[in-house]
Amino acid sequence: MKGEIEVRFERLSAAHDRSGFVCEQPSLTDYLLKFAGQNERGDIAACFVAVAPDSAKVVGYYTISAHAVLENELLPEQKKGLPGYDRIPAFLIGRLARDVTMKGKGLGELLLIDALTRLCSIEAAARMIVVDPIDKNAGAFYDRYGFTPLGQGTTRLSLPMKVARKAVGALRSGPAS
Ligand SMILES: CC(C)(COP(=O)(O)OP(=O)(O)OC[C@H]1O[C@@H](n2cnc3c(N)ncnc32)[C@H](O)[C@@H]1OP(=O)(O)O)[C@@H](O)C(=O)NCCC(=O)NCCS
Repeated sequence: MKGEIEVRFERLSAAHDRSGFVCEQPSLTDYLLKFAGQNERGDIAACFVAVAPDSAKVVGYYTISAHAVLENELLPEQKKGLPGYDRIPAFLIGRLARDVTMKGKGLGELLLIDALTRLCSIEAAARMIVVDPIDKNAGAFYDRYGFTPLGQGTTRLSLPMKVARKAVGALRSGPAS
């Protein structure tokens, strides 16, 4: 992890300045500027923002929502140990992006860690965390953190909740001395 950047994570509110946010994907820039507030108010997606120190400027964001995947979407190995219900509970990281000015500074990783940490502290069961990478580059980013294809013939990726908890636990306990 690159530790040189300082940001704080907060739930999106009217106090945040999103006006100058730009990422490489126009639809993800637009989402923050035009739709994130609406989806917050409608209980569609909770939006968490990374804010620069001593300012209200948003430099990154992600959204989380409750989700379900169909049991028959899963690979045989992903079905192991499941009770045979039609729908399997999951969490969805719907969007995740950082401002172009923060490229390559480790903010993408911090956003993902914050999302995983938050999801691991929710007192509701979910078998896995699902993401829908917007393109191959985004897929490669998630791949780096252990996300694997959810079923066959799909670009959706998933990370078992068990794996996320282990990773978050390891981060909390810090490097082995
Ligand atoms: C994907 C994204 C969040 C990565 O953010 P970033 O801040 O540039 O990445 P970081 O600096 O945190 O990189 C963390 C690690 O991931 C690696 N990485 C970053 N982008 C990567 C990619 N596309 N593929 C593979 N690895 C990637 C970095 O090399 C780094 O590894 P290192 O520590 O070994 O050098 C960013 O490119 C972005 O916001 N893109 C536009 C929106 C988008 O595509 N979002 C994806 C969700 S749909």
